[in-house]
Amino acid sequence: MATPSQECNELIFQEIFQKIHLGIVVLDMQKHAVSYCNQQAAEIFEVIKLSPEFGSLYPIVESSVQELLNDPKRHKVKTIKKHGERFIGYTFDMPGKDKRFISILLQDITDQKRMDSIAEAVVTMNNVGYIFTGIRHEIGNPLNSIKMALTVLQKNIDRYSPDEIEVYFVRVFEEIARIEHLLKSFKNFNMYEKPQTAVMDLSDFIMHNTQLITAYSSVKDTLIGISVDIEPGSEMVKVDRRALQQVTMNVLANAMDAMQNNKESRLLISSRSHGPSILLEITDNGCGIPAASLHDVFKPFYTTKEKGTGLGLALSKKMLAQMNCSIDLSSTEGEGTTVTISIPKARAHEVEEFRLSQD
Ligand SMILES: Nc1ncnc2c1ncn2[C@@H]1O[C@H](COP(=O)(O)OP(=O)(O)OP(=O)(O)O)[C@@H](O)[C@H]1O
Ligand SMILES: [Mg+2]
Repeated sequence: MATPSQECNELIFQEIFQKIHLGIVVLDMQKHAVSYCNQQAAEIFEVIKLSPEFGSLYPIVESSVQELLNDPKRHKVKTIKKHGERFIGYTFDMPGKDKRFISILLQDITDQKRMDSIAEAVVTMNNVGYIFTGIRHEIGNPLNSIKMALTVLQKNIDRYSPDEIEVYFVRVFEEIARIEHLLKSFKNFNMYEKPQTAVMDLSDFIMHNTQLITAYSSVKDTLIGISVDIEPGSEMVKVDRRALQQVTMNVLANAMDAMQNNKESRLLISSRSHGPSILLEITDNGCGIPAASLHDVFKPFYTTKEKGTGLGLALSKKMLAQMNCSIDLSSTEGEGTTVTISIPKARAHEVEEFRLSQD
């Protein structure tokens, strides 16, 4: 039996739960009933025209509840659902060990979502403006050169020798190639709109790329000392391999460019576990980036290279974000640069399925 002070506490808790600005619902999975529903939850259900009864509530939350029940390591499931015009955020939890009760916290996040999409639209508009300025500049320059070369050629075609004419043709083709390169980069911008993530062994991936760089450096006759450091347990990730390959090629190409004037080039590729993610790090001892330019490197068209498009890192960031990955860059001018790519770890059951499929 509860002591007077416990009773008092229960009453206080009940009052707090009723008044709290968060919907709280408890489902009894044995009795197939809603065993608790506070005032805020009832108000949310009224707005989204849902009856706070098990029969009408359960079909809406079933997939999340099943996710919680089926995975013993899962203690919380969060999801956002759209009901008509409203967005509701749900957090599912399973208090106790008998899997009898499921608690659901509900929040109407429509206004927050709306603010987020307004902010997103503003950022997009700014980026679009930035991109158009870049396109004007990147296509405008070669077009001007082509126009100039053709004008000179037109005026002097009768006077120039075949060799002199050839020089102008070469220049025109070079400028056309620059535009073509740019257009190819744009194609990549949309290439992985819907990345297909799957379990992948990162150590395999790193070894594959190490071989690529070794082959490349021997063709180019440059010596690069490559070290690999894979922390045990930091191998299994969930990612789109092709998209990650493209990002890694961009990052490695940048590293090679940065080291081209080095006497001794060193590259370190490592992976380590960091909470729910694995960090893939690529460190070069190249020229580094001045502190004042660090915040520019992910902007489309920012480049310090004569033949660069400045789209490599912008593209990488976009592709990674679509796979719940992220990319960061730290650098010291004159010392080198580290690029860190954060990739979600694969879940235990996914790794098991992956291993079975490999056997
Ligand atoms: N590892 C690095 N070391 C030094 N500078 C770097 C490194 N990585 C990127 N940068 C800087 O960031 C800029 C932008 O890189 P990004 O990959 O986006 O474009 P880019 O390499 O210039 O062009 P592209 O990728 O089309 O060849 C580079 O021009 C360079 O100044
Ligand atoms: Mg690049």
